Amino acid sequence: MAMLTVDHIGKSFGGLRVLSDVTFDVNEGEVVGLIGPNGAGKTTLFNVITGFLTPNHGTVMFDGRDITRLAPNARVRAGLVRTFQKSMVFPDLSLRENIALAVRARNSAGYRLRPAARELAEADATADALLARARLGERAGDKVCNLSYGDQRIVDVLISLAMAPRLLLLDEPTAGLAREEGERLIEIVRQHDSRTAIVLIAHDLDIVFGTSNRVAVLDLGRMIAFDTPAAIRAHAGARAAYLGALAEAT
Ligand SMILES: Nc1ncnc2c1ncn2[C@@H]1O[C@H](COP(=O)(O)OP(=O)(O)OP(=O)(O)O)[C@@H](O)[C@H]1O
Ligand SMILES: [Mg+2]
Repeated sequence: MAMLTVDHIGKSFGGLRVLSDVTFDVNEGEVVGLIGPNGAGKTTLFNVITGFLTPNHGTVMFDGRDITRLAPNARVRAGLVRTFQKSMVFPDLSLRENIALAVRARNSAGYRLRPAARELAEADATADALLARARLGERAGDKVCNLSYGDQRIVDVLISLAMAPRLLLLDEPTAGLAREEGERLIEIVRQHDSRTAIVLIAHDLDIVFGTSNRVAVLDLGRMIAFDTPAAIRAHAGARAAYLGALAEAT
């Protein structure tokens, strides 16, 4: 059984139909690339999967459970975690503080005014372990705003890893990064836990095709193809949606 099943999802804003009959699935440990032109509906689909939007039609199943109407925080506790297209870090807090906050958000029902010292120490230790594995251990105490842009995007991803995802939805984490930086970011997620599934939105087709087991192509709110990278490269409709960009991404 697939970990995530998105079944015949439709979503409209007023009269504007943004998603039509979108169906796809993600297995444990799988990386699914989600591509499509600007405005295709990729972020809207993430919003439906993570509970920020309720669809007009269709269902979202996670671990065999219908979560279509479950609140976003309950989905996070179930292991469904996302990043946002725009960074959500606190730039004036340190790397360690940013990640430790996420650990605590995951572990406790809410923030306590005076958390137990042990809870804080454990969150810091988890943050330090994540930073060390991402080779940012030496910068744990630095403010995030003093990092390079690429390292800030890595902190974004570490924050979501701190929430112990079983499925991680990454909305353009590699935007603005050089190819090697983008590949390093995806590698950090892959090495974290090989069972963690990923849905990756990116416009850099080299990164998508190089890291994904399957690729889903959205165009004007429709899933026009969902297949292996090789099959997507050869898919006429997918090529047309990208006006030849796929042909260049080899
Ligand atoms: N809350 C909203 N209200 C009205 N229209 C919306 C809303 N959110 C998104 N849209 C519209 O839905 C369409 C799809 O937007 P979406 O952000 O999902 O695209 P996208 O594929 O993520 O694009 P990009 O690659 O630029 O990030 C766009 O036409 C957008 O203007
Ligand atoms: Mg988007």
